[in-house]
Amino acid sequence: MKRIFSGIKPTGHLTLGNYLGAVRQWVEVDQHQADALFSVVDLHALTVEHDPGRVRRLSRQAATLLLAAGLDPERCTLFVQSHVDEHARLSYLMECVATDGEMRRMIQYKEKSVRARDAGEGVRLSLLTYPALMAADILAYDTDEVPVGEDQTQHVELARDLAVRFNQRYEPVFTVPKATNPKVAARVMDLQDPTSKMGKSHENGSGIVYLLDDEATTRRKIMRAVTDSAQEVVYDRAASPGVTNLLDVLAASTGGDPEVLAGAYTSYGALKKDTADAVVELLRPLRERHAEIAADPAYVDGVLRRGAERARGMARPVVDRAYRAIGLLPPV
Ligand code: TYM
Repeated sequence: MKRIFSGIKPTGHLTLGNYLGAVRQWVEVDQHQADALFSVVDLHALTVEHDPGRVRRLSRQAATLLLAAGLDPERCTLFVQSHVDEHARLSYLMECVATDGEMRRMIQYKEKSVRARDAGEGVRLSLLTYPALMAADILAYDTDEVPVGEDQTQHVELARDLAVRFNQRYEPVFTVPKATNPKVAARVMDLQDPTSKMGKSHENGSGIVYLLDDEATTRRKIMRAVTDSAQEVVYDRAASPGVTNLLDVLAASTGGDPEVLAGAYTSYGALKKDTADAVVELLRPLRERHAEIAADPAYVDGVLRRGAERARGMARPVVDRAYRAIGLLPPV
């Protein structure tokens, strides 16, 4: 059976981008077709300025939301990254296989390091080595496929390069993974700034639909989305980024095709209204279920405890093999 691994970082409230770009695929397809592991990757949340209490709260909220979205602990393994020591152990070996040039070329590093400098904060060393930890997440589980939004594809490709390099230089320890993206909405854009990604750690939330926003807020954000000065509804990311983003969201929410949908609209108002309706319907069950699950923290704890045990059992032998292959003396 194919092995799938993916993760989500608790740096902010989960967004419609996370849901359409990744989580929905995990729920609807991956957990049914593969031996799938999903992780709240809290170690990654420490790579930028953070508040310890907030990271703890967001980690629990992310796990609760993933269950509310439909991850079934009987079908998949859900766990918190820091509960499984193997991630940090293997990350160091990845740092010994990767070069600093490879790390500095990562788009996410370039963007986030500029942001940190502009904010007068130091750039944490862990922000640079982030992709080594992410490679460790993936490679520790003999992962075949990594379902992610488009923004994470470059990191998965680096994990792939590191696996191949390690296998050639030392011993064939790692399965070589590949990234998979959803067909529509692999990159959901900010509603107020449709040339940049809808990201959970954005400062201004008016262009971001959070999964836990109430219906009125969701509607308002979509109705106020920036469109274009022309009045035509066309599917063209370069010429009409705002409208194209709405068409992508509508298509992803209703199972339609964005180019076909473009032909069905003559006004932006109607497109916005239908998109708002579709998103509200899509997220309603998730919000309702979230309230139920959040009321039972012991249930969430139990899921995470069992998930970490299972993940540990899977990662331990792979990481032990890598330690030996690279030249470390096994404990006596
Ligand atoms: P993160 O937490 O930023 O996002 C989680 C997932 O949601 C996708 N995503 C989007 N997809 C479409 N449109 C958007 N606007 C959008 N925003 C986010 C992301 O592509 C991702 O699939 N580095 C990863 C977390 C990670 C990971 C891993 C993922 C750490 N280790 C190992 C896979 C495998 C990240 O920051 O995702």
